[in-house]
Amino acid sequence: MTKMLLYVVFLFSFLVTVLCSEDYNLYGDAGQAYAIEVFLGHPAQKLNVLVDTGSTTLAIATYPRQDNNEYFHFDNSTSINDSGKEIQAKYSQGMWLGRLASDYIQFPSLPNLPEVRTDMALITKSHKFFMNGSSWQGLLGLAYLPVGAWGDHLIVESWLDSLDRRLKTPSSFELKLCGVKSSSNATHYGNFRVIDDAVETYETIFRTPILRKRWYEVGVLSMRVMYLKQPNMTSVPASTKNSQENYVSTDLNIEMCQQLNQEKSIVDSGTTNIRLPDDLYRQVVDELKNAVLSSNILILDEFWYHAEAACWTEPQNWSLPWLAIDLLSTESDQEYFTLELPPQNYMRVVSARNNTSENGTVPEFCYKLGLEAGGKETVLGYTAMEGLQVLFNRSAGWIGWQSSNCGPNARITGPYNVTTSIRAACQLNKVISDGAMSIKAAQWTLCIISIIAAAVLIYLLAPCIKMMLMKPLPASNQISLSQAALVQQDST
Ligand SMILES: *[C@@H]1O[C@H](CO)[C@@H](O)[C@H](O)[C@H]1NC(C)=O
Ligand SMILES: *[C@@H]1O[C@H](CO)[C@@H](O)[C@H](O)[C@H]1NC(C)=O
Ligand SMILES: *[C@@H]1O[C@H](CO)[C@@H](O)[C@H](O)[C@H]1NC(C)=O
Ligand SMILES: *[C@@H]1O[C@H](CO)[C@@H](O)[C@H](O)[C@H]1NC(C)=O
Ligand SMILES: *[C@@H]1O[C@H](CO)[C@@H](O)[C@H](O)[C@H]1NC(C)=O
Ligand SMILES: *[C@@H]1O[C@H](CO)[C@@H](O)[C@H](O)[C@H]1NC(C)=O
Ligand SMILES: *[C@@H]1O[C@H](CO)[C@@H](O)[C@H](O)[C@H]1NC(C)=O
Repeated sequence: MTKMLLYVVFLFSFLVTVLCSEDYNLYGDAGQAYAIEVFLGHPAQKLNVLVDTGSTTLAIATYPRQDNNEYFHFDNSTSINDSGKEIQAKYSQGMWLGRLASDYIQFPSLPNLPEVRTDMALITKSHKFFMNGSSWQGLLGLAYLPVGAWGDHLIVESWLDSLDRRLKTPSSFELKLCGVKSSSNATHYGNFRVIDDAVETYETIFRTPILRKRWYEVGVLSMRVMYLKQPNMTSVPASTKNSQENYVSTDLNIEMCQQLNQEKSIVDSGTTNIRLPDDLYRQVVDELKNAVLSSNILILDEFWYHAEAACWTEPQNWSLPWLAIDLLSTESDQEYFTLELPPQNYMRVVSARNNTSENGTVPEFCYKLGLEAGGKETVLGYTAMEGLQVLFNRSAGWIGWQSSNCGPNARITGPYNVTTSIRAACQLNKVISDGAMSIKAAQWTLCIISIIAAAVLIYLLAPCIKMMLMKPLPASNQISLSQAALVQQDST
């Protein structure tokens, strides 16, 4: 009897361990990027920072802000080394000013990583950087040194560089972003881990080369709307490889790939949407909109072209076309592979809640389009990463992609061969040497965070804006939030 009980207890605890062994250490409120908990200083102060592959410097608030009075009390840390020297970072809209300091950082969710002393910016003043209600207090930049914060004759080392120096070996990191927890909870979650290159090697993943080590600049060859032949688009074949037969393949579109990489194409976990050069954005969105119309779903133009949310009274099961993103492969200059994103990726859940008004409580499930116009740039924001495991091998200079066990059913297919040199055809080899790129020059080109910031602002202000009930649709009860006044903020 006791034995039996012990056995049951054992089985139960085993199950619990198995079920809970998948740890998640990234969280974000709807509309915000993914944040991780860190311990800063001695004694440790617990703070949340965004994981941002679109910047380099660890930057942290040192003063209370509206609606968020958590910040780094640096004068309470016995280990802080405050240089007093001024540094700053500018983004297309937001900016911050701060002082260069160094202190210890540790990640409670990554017990195997040693605590390291790292440079950081103590933010003393900011403009359009922290948003009302944001649950994070800073940024953990994960990109390369040339796009770090800058000051007079100062080099601000990144946390990853400090870590590599401490470990005496380069490390890679992996982001597994999973999107929303459930249809009734718009909080999103994921996992961040650091991998010692000497210990673990990823063999089977699709890799794209990092063209320049500043941001994570990659060769994005095309962005296509993909019509699956199978009518049942929600079920996904088990095999992620070589599923060419599933869609109408197209040849490399040289004009499109030149346009996509004209300025630069980057992978940026700190940006929400997939940003495309203006013309291409229009093309892709027109095509999606028509596909939606032809499947008898009516969604207003404000949703497609003006970053407004569309809301329904029940969660939506989208059966819309997928998006395909072709990336240059490291294997050969004549090879590429394709990220295939289901509608769950680009129909972003921005809220799932019970809305209480005079007329009573109505459940409300709101979505925004995960695509936006990006001027001349291409940015694969976290919308393009959800449902995938993305490995950033910083030292070797490639980004590896594989499907993941959480989030949307995104997948990767390929490799596909073409007969021409992709780098030459798409003009990916414009030379900007790493060394020639001065820190100061980065101020002109940094422009990432404001995008999240604007998105967060719009999301946070949404409830304040009078909800306009649009002509209700018979089938699906669509409602819409009008945010026309704020749309300006969203585009640069
Ligand atoms: C910082 O130190 C002050 C005074 O020593 C104390 O009142 C405060 O609670 C401390 N704050 C934190 C976050 O440790
Ligand atoms: C503080 O940092 C400066 C360089 O910024 C360094 O010269 C100095 O030794 C450091 N002090 C301590 C106590 O670590
Ligand atoms: C910030 O948010 C709080 C509540 O979330 C609200 O009361 C306040 O008015 C907001 N401030 C601004 C400037 O939007
Ligand atoms: C959503 O999930 C998060 C994390 O588990 C939890 O803290 C939060 O309370 C949930 N929100 C709702 C509305 O259930
Ligand atoms: C990163 O690339 C280097 C060089 O190719 C390799 O030795 C290392 O194992 C890679 N790291 C991972 C995690 O795959
Ligand atoms: C809304 O209310 C219903 C019933 O009152 C509840 O079952 C549901 O979980 C609520 N949804 C959210 C997102 O809070
Ligand atoms: C693609 O080209 C490589 C050599 O560059 C070759 O080994 C491979 O078999 C080709 N794959 C296909 C599907 O043609």
